Amino acid sequence: LMQRFDNHLEKWLPEASEIPCNLHKAMSYSALSGGKRIRPLLIYATAIATDQPLHEVDGIACAIELIHVYSLIHDDLPCMDNDDLRRGKPTCHIKYGEATATLAGDALQALAFQILATDSSMTSNAIARLKIIEILSTAAGSTGMAGGQAIDLDSVGTKINVQQLKQMHNLKTGALINASVMMVITNKPEIEDNIAAAFNSYSKCIGLSFQITDDILDVTTDTETLGKPAGSDIENDKPTFPGIIGLEASRKNAMDLHTKAINSLGEMGDQAILLREIADYIVERTH
Ligand code: IPE
Ligand code: IPE
Ligand code: MG
Ligand code: MG
Ligand code: MG
Repeated sequence: LMQRFDNHLEKWLPEASEIPCNLHKAMSYSALSGGKRIRPLLIYATAIATDQPLHEVDGIACAIELIHVYSLIHDDLPCMDNDDLRRGKPTCHIKYGEATATLAGDALQALAFQILATDSSMTSNAIARLKIIEILSTAAGSTGMAGGQAIDLDSVGTKINVQQLKQMHNLKTGALINASVMMVITNKPEIEDNIAAAFNSYSKCIGLSFQITDDILDVTTDTETLGKPAGSDIENDKPTFPGIIGLEASRKNAMDLHTKAINSLGEMGDQAILLREIADYIVERTH
């Protein structure tokens, strides 16, 4: 699945030899730099769980990863988290400069929607396609990821409670993880409402546990293993789960969400194995 995904992503990225070369190099540098590809995997796993052909979701997988990569490039900029290492390599702005990195993020975001609008392997149902574009645009915008990032920046140096922290995490990270699953559910209009609700619950639980685990790893793991600067949250005085409720309570929160995610999948059989494995991986991962 990873190989399948990388082949598709490469196909959509403009050649580095095409003008403007530096911008295109920066886009590929960040998009093809590894990463766990958890969102694309989640998309394929949801397609498998709901009996959908993988070729119909390749474009959706590329689109979500491009939005994610754009969010990472901007997240690392000096005006945000000011980090110099990402996926074990210099961040985009360290390698190409702030202006090019900003534009690479902008262009990757635009490319994501270009793929959803044009990919001929996706559904021939134009209404489903539009709905998918609606889901991703909402999840990326000011009431989704970008909104969560705004709250993250605004809350530096202030005291927020756990409720506000959860809200921030649900937006900045949960929204794109929820969208990954729900775009695939939307791709098959025959899926019944109660099944769609089960997938919605599953994805919300793993989305929040993903960011709680990210916060935990920031304080428990070294830079080399993480591939990004350990301790960045403390350095930037960010509100995090370990910072606000402590490490043990954070681990318990992540585990409770994991249980709830698995329970959401309920009676689904072997077809949902990959979804269960992703839920496990999200809380057990070391980077
Ligand atoms: C990091 O995401 C940013 C968060 C939303 C926590 P990932 O941990 O998925 O980063 P990559 O894609 O594997 O590098
Ligand atoms: C960022 O959260 C989430 C995004 C929307 C990019 P973090 O700032 O904790 O992500 P990392 O730890 O830098 O990957
Ligand atoms: Mg951040
Ligand atoms: Mg960051
Ligand atoms: Mg982090």
